[in-house]
Amino acid sequence: MTLHTLGDLLAEGVRGRHVLIRSDLNVPLDGATVTDDGRIRASLPVITALADAGARVLVAAHLGRPKGAPEPRYSLAPAVARMAELAPALSVTRAADTTGEDARAKAAALADGAVLVLENVRFDARETSKDDGDRAAFAAELAALTGRRGAYVDDAFGAVHRKHASVYDIAKALPSYQGDLVRTELEVLRKLTGTPARPYVVVLGGSKVSDKLAVIDNLIGKADTILVGGGMLFTFLAAQGHPVGASLLETDQIPVVRDYLDRAAAAGTTFVLPTDIVVAATFAADAAHEVVAADAIEAGRFGATGLGLDIGPLSGAAFADAVKGAGTVFWNGPMGVFEFPAFAEGTRAVAAALAQNTANGGFTVVGGGDSAAAVRTLGFDDAAFGHISTGGGASLEFLEGKTLPGLAALDR
Ligand code: 3PG
Repeated sequence: MTLHTLGDLLAEGVRGRHVLIRSDLNVPLDGATVTDDGRIRASLPVITALADAGARVLVAAHLGRPKGAPEPRYSLAPAVARMAELAPALSVTRAADTTGEDARAKAAALADGAVLVLENVRFDARETSKDDGDRAAFAAELAALTGRRGAYVDDAFGAVHRKHASVYDIAKALPSYQGDLVRTELEVLRKLTGTPARPYVVVLGGSKVSDKLAVIDNLIGKADTILVGGGMLFTFLAAQGHPVGASLLETDQIPVVRDYLDRAAAAGTTFVLPTDIVVAATFAADAAHEVVAADAIEAGRFGATGLGLDIGPLSGAAFADAVKGAGTVFWNGPMGVFEFPAFAEGTRAVAAALAQNTANGGFTVVGGGDSAAAVRTLGFDDAAFGHISTGGGASLEFLEGKTLPGLAALDR
């Protein structure tokens, strides 16, 4: 693979040239407030390096999953405002559209060292189209914003698993370069797929087991221990024959999970499931709740209508012990509904254990938008972990061993 890096582009010289950077600015919002700015902070070094070198910087990014047309609640405006706050020395403006009149006029007028963030690329249906021609046409419009001597830098690690116009097709339309964030993320994740220090412990959570099946399949025989929490744990409990009340359950995945449990034992990977669960009457921050044994959810106070919303304290302690003794830890997905304080303790216990493991010299990676947001929401410092990935789906697909379109496209 012949890859050109940001360093190569800077060495060529960028003063006066338009450089289009694909960043991942897909941040969680509460109204117009960015609730976790990790991805913006992670994107700033490459944006700043190019601006400092005199490039006319265009930033393309997505936010949320709009349906191919402008929707105000998915505007990048809050992310751009936060970027300007975080980097006051940078001249940052925003276009009202992506490749329309405003973007074209502002791109043409951009001064050396200034930054223009285009509006959400997913406001154009061609960005995510399955039709190669549609995507190529949109990529050509993006490329045209850069004029005669344009270049493209892919720094959106969180989106490299998407075959989208601003990630994949654009790399064919302009001389393309790999950004430093993508490079760093890959260096870290390769440590996990290479020869990780043992024991290698993987903590998986989040709501849907179907999102994690491929990575679980791939980790059997590679990880020493897989700890399972979050909404997905109930499909595991069901696979072991335990009733789970009204908790999240993907019935169609039960046979797949049962097969994983059988295969794991033979492959030397131990699955650890919670032994106690925090069960609530309803899905609400102030819901009545109690701790019950994982194999007796329906015998509890809320019977068959009880909802498991977090792992219990015994499980939190057991998970923390396994994490503390690990040589390498990869964590993707919260253990419970951490947004509600009453159901955040399992996630907090795992986060604290990762932090302690890191302090003791272990190598820890927090992967994924939700887990990254969880550790920050719970007040942990980024520096407490070996690495907090900006990629959710991207880091999982990398660990699955899949070819990531955004990376493949940079080969030239
Ligand atoms: C993410 O949040 O993982 C990335 O920004 C990709 O977003 P997507 O899953 O909507 O493509």
